[in-house]
Amino acid sequence: MDNFSCANDKPLFTPGPLTTSRTVKQAMLRDLGSRDGEFLRVVREIRAKLLDIANLRDEYECVLMQGSGTFCIEATMGTMMPPDGKILILANGAYGKRMVGIADTLKIPFSVFEYPEHCKTNTRDVEFELTRDASLTHIAMVHSETTSGLVNEIATVGALARQFHKKFLVDAMSSFGGIETDWRAVNADYIVSSANKCIEGVPGFGFVLAKRESLLQTKGWARSLALDLCAQWKGLESDGQFRFTPPTHALLAFHQALLELEQEGGVKARAARYRANYETLIAGTRALGLREYLEARDQGHIIVSFLYPEHPNFDFKNFYARLNEKGFVIYPGKVGNANCFRIGCIGRLFPSDMQNLLNAMQTTLQETQVTLA
Ligand SMILES: Cc1ncc(COP(=O)(O)O)c(C=O)c1O
Repeated sequence: MDNFSCANDKPLFTPGPLTTSRTVKQAMLRDLGSRDGEFLRVVREIRAKLLDIANLRDEYECVLMQGSGTFCIEATMGTMMPPDGKILILANGAYGKRMVGIADTLKIPFSVFEYPEHCKTNTRDVEFELTRDASLTHIAMVHSETTSGLVNEIATVGALARQFHKKFLVDAMSSFGGIETDWRAVNADYIVSSANKCIEGVPGFGFVLAKRESLLQTKGWARSLALDLCAQWKGLESDGQFRFTPPTHALLAFHQALLELEQEGGVKARAARYRANYETLIAGTRALGLREYLEARDQGHIIVSFLYPEHPNFDFKNFYARLNEKGFVIYPGKVGNANCFRIGCIGRLFPSDMQNLLNAMQTTLQETQVTLA
């Protein structure tokens, strides 16, 4: 057993839940009461550290919310929209579309710009629409579209939000902590991510970094009792506690994960490790003859979509199962316009893990007689 994993666990080359360190898992071997002073300190420190990571301590608040990432996006959208608000959503993947689904379900008026999954969202469209439709009050988009692996340009949209006095929501689920970002320049009113992505915690809750001024305006707007971001923040501020049962073990793990992020050298070092994982991966897959779904200029270093090789012997289910038997967990594709599988570069993984995966992929392709040019 190495320092980072458990003996029987396979490394997860997935978009999350991810492989976590052994010490993160060990941090959960406690039963702390939700009103315990030690637990309240953990919650306080998590909230402060998340603001520090983004360098947003002065003007922003950190709200933790039970549930997966989608719960946090829904809580934010359901709370931030005034009764007469209208949101412009930019979508080039499943997670942009999910925001459309949330707006639809919550009966929030919206406009959507939908792009093919291999194309970045277009800032000029945003400018056009903001000029055309004065009833728009909010803009929402995804930073790292985990569907494909594409990274959208959020700072240019943030600048337009500033210029047109609109509120701006960024789904930073798979980028926060893993892609170096000048969050001050991005000018988002709400930045949303979750515990089991690039901070390398375990699933159970998400977090929202919200501009204090914007959050304060939302009192009474929430379309849900449990997913009321403003009430959740007020609860955390008043007595340090969650309003409803907190995921105590996941929070303990996350606190440890934040310490390990610091020990690694912060977001800069973590992003460099993920980039090294990514570079090892694509150098190897290109050598094997596999092709990426995205153009290199749009591709982020978080997760890569690979086109199914055009060979009659290639069968993804078989490829996946054989890799799994060898101890490697990859991920199916999610884009609608091509047959792909995905390999994640995040979590407690290192270039040596990527190399081990590449070796297993080579063996599997040979075993199944998939010969690629
Ligand atoms: C960009 C993005 N947004 C939203 C989500 C939804 O998060 P969850 O599956 O935790 O609800 C994910 C999950 O991978 C994601 O990558």
